Amino acid sequence: MQPGEMRNKIESLIKELLAVMQVRKNYGPDHKLTKEAVGNLHKGLDSILSCQAEVTIGIVGDEFAFERQPFYEASKNMGNFINHLKELKIERITFLKGLSSKELEDFFGIITMDAVSMEKSGGIKVLAASVGLQFIAFSKIYLGQAGAAGEGLDINLTAKQNIQEGIDFLTRISEGINSKEPLDVRSAYFFVNKIIGNLFQNKESLFILTNIKSHDEYTFLHSLNVAILTLAQAESLGVKQEYLTEIGVAALLHDAGKLILSGEIINKKGKLDPADLEKIRLHPVDGAKVLLDSAEANPLGAIVSFEHHLRYDTQGYPQRIYGGKPNVASMMVAIADIYDALRSKRAYHEEMAPEKTYEEMTKMAGTHLEPDLVENFFKIIGVFPPGTLVELDNKAVGLVVKESLSDIKRPQIEVLYNGQGEKEKEPYIINLLEKDSESGNYKYSIVKSILLTDKYELPQKYH
Ligand SMILES: [Fe+2]
Ligand SMILES: [Fe+2]
Repeated sequence: MQPGEMRNKIESLIKELLAVMQVRKNYGPDHKLTKEAVGNLHKGLDSILSCQAEVTIGIVGDEFAFERQPFYEASKNMGNFINHLKELKIERITFLKGLSSKELEDFFGIITMDAVSMEKSGGIKVLAASVGLQFIAFSKIYLGQAGAAGEGLDINLTAKQNIQEGIDFLTRISEGINSKEPLDVRSAYFFVNKIIGNLFQNKESLFILTNIKSHDEYTFLHSLNVAILTLAQAESLGVKQEYLTEIGVAALLHDAGKLILSGEIINKKGKLDPADLEKIRLHPVDGAKVLLDSAEANPLGAIVSFEHHLRYDTQGYPQRIYGGKPNVASMMVAIADIYDALRSKRAYHEEMAPEKTYEEMTKMAGTHLEPDLVENFFKIIGVFPPGTLVELDNKAVGLVVKESLSDIKRPQIEVLYNGQGEKEKEPYIINLLEKDSESGNYKYSIVKSILLTDKYELPQKYH
């Protein structure tokens, strides 16, 4: 779709949005005309979401805007509507692929409320969660440092916001579990759908973020990374969106049982005593219980929690209580789980270099891990995943930015330092698949990965 064409579609969408508001106000939510207007809006959204994972409209100043470009014309007669949304503190509405007209109707139930009642009911996010909105999100417009209007939404930024939201979400459910509240699985669905949208748009940004990470809040970041790495596997296998969400939620909550354990045990340095070990070994079972006891029991989540340390050969823990191999979702989660654990610096071990991790996990194929899935996993993230700092055979140093589909050891690199160790003023991207036309040899190859230390400075966009 041409950019201009997209703008036209969004403009009609905004008009349809207003039409629903007006018809609903005059005739009520259940009237034929209201349903018809919602149906039209849904069709318009469907046609946009058939070619992209999500669409966001926002309010900039007193106008509706798409990618920060205001619609002056269309906003003219919408002053009341725009003010109403502002009163509700809604600055951005994101519609995700998979949205149903039922959910759209529920959405209008919320945004037609007045500000006072909304505040009393706990605010927009609480309401959205309580009616179960999964494919519509509300957020605030992020105005970069200079508040630069007209600048497109930064995709890295969306990925970063995604990670932060994930940590907030996990913090909330962890507090919930510890005060014995049932698990809020519903908001996990919503969050996972956002990761999926992000994954479809720009996998690399998410991979880079899972790779360049700070090491506090390990359990939460670990859960997020496992969800991202599992979703990437499932998506590459062609799993349909509705199941993708299920698998993503199960992956995100695979260690729900660990949230019950105290930070003391999880972050303990050196050897754990037998009592601690015993507690840790119970986390798959504890997690399965929590997931089954949640308001809406989550069977796949419970299975994945129960099986994620069982291993492909079922020789892991807890002891196997039924026949057959573990569920395919559990086996994808196990790969993501082990990968993230090896690659992370923990109280009791240093982080493992990616090439070494590849070697170790290839050895586990057939015993701990399902071999075809392991092969598929490294096809997706490569031996040197995006976000890895590497040294090339000409001594230049760069950051892996994109995997190669044909050779897992030859990704694309953003060169940051030249062979003399001097910082490149204008970093540039090379493709390691490129060959010298005369000799037919590869122009550059990776010698090894480098630990990201203070010695190296990454460009601002990766911070
Ligand atoms: Fe675990
Ligand atoms: Fe885990």
